Amino acid sequence: MAKSLNNNLKKAKAGKNDEFYTELTDIEKELRHYKEHFKGKTVFCNCDDPRISNFFHYFSHKFEDLELKRLITTCYKNQERDLFSEHKSESAIWLEYNGDKNGDRVPNPEEIGIHDLKSDGDFRSPESIGLLTQADIIVTNPPFSLFREYVAQLIEHDKKFLIIGNQNAITYKEIFKLIKENKL
Ligand SMILES: C[S@@+](CC[C@H](N)C(=O)[O-])C[C@H]1O[C@@H](n2cnc3c(N)ncnc32)[C@H](O)[C@@H]1O
Repeated sequence: MAKSLNNNLKKAKAGKNDEFYTELTDIEKELRHYKEHFKGKTVFCNCDDPRISNFFHYFSHKFEDLELKRLITTCYKNQERDLFSEHKSESAIWLEYNGDKNGDRVPNPEEIGIHDLKSDGDFRSPESIGLLTQADIIVTNPPFSLFREYVAQLIEHDKKFLIIGNQNAITYKEIFKLIKENKL
């Protein structure tokens, strides 16, 4: 993990800041190692406000290059497009992108499907789990305060994943156990 990224994660953890956003350069530096793993796959970013999330930006702009099948994103506690990331609404939305349609290789708003969620977009909600079951690989930077629970859900559903966490998470007994078992 890049030193600057880990320092930022430490600061975010110290401040119990679940709203720390991942920088595009960090995503690019890490994900370039996994290009072949994404071919034909459905990617789900389940803790990502698509207006802000650089994971959504990365995967939607690299959709054709990575030969993705589908990109799904859930937005936590947001509904109105102008209120993205302000967490004012208990309702939320999910987005899907199935690739470029007009040949400009850029994700245009009319190419992104926006759907309402009945609940608040919590990754543990049945709706979000329903989307999780449709996905092949989960990629995000989840809320630090829910890291153990977040990882447990991925393991329970036997999903492949690439997630960012603070290095201290290695010392959590649940996480260390998964590393020893070669599941993480
Ligand atoms: C550390 S931030 C990272 C945001 C984004 N994934 C990124 O990498 O830039 C964690 C995100 O998870 C969202 N979040 C918090 N609790 C959540 C929950 N229970 N279910 C889904 N998302 C949640 C927060 O609103 C926040 O945007």
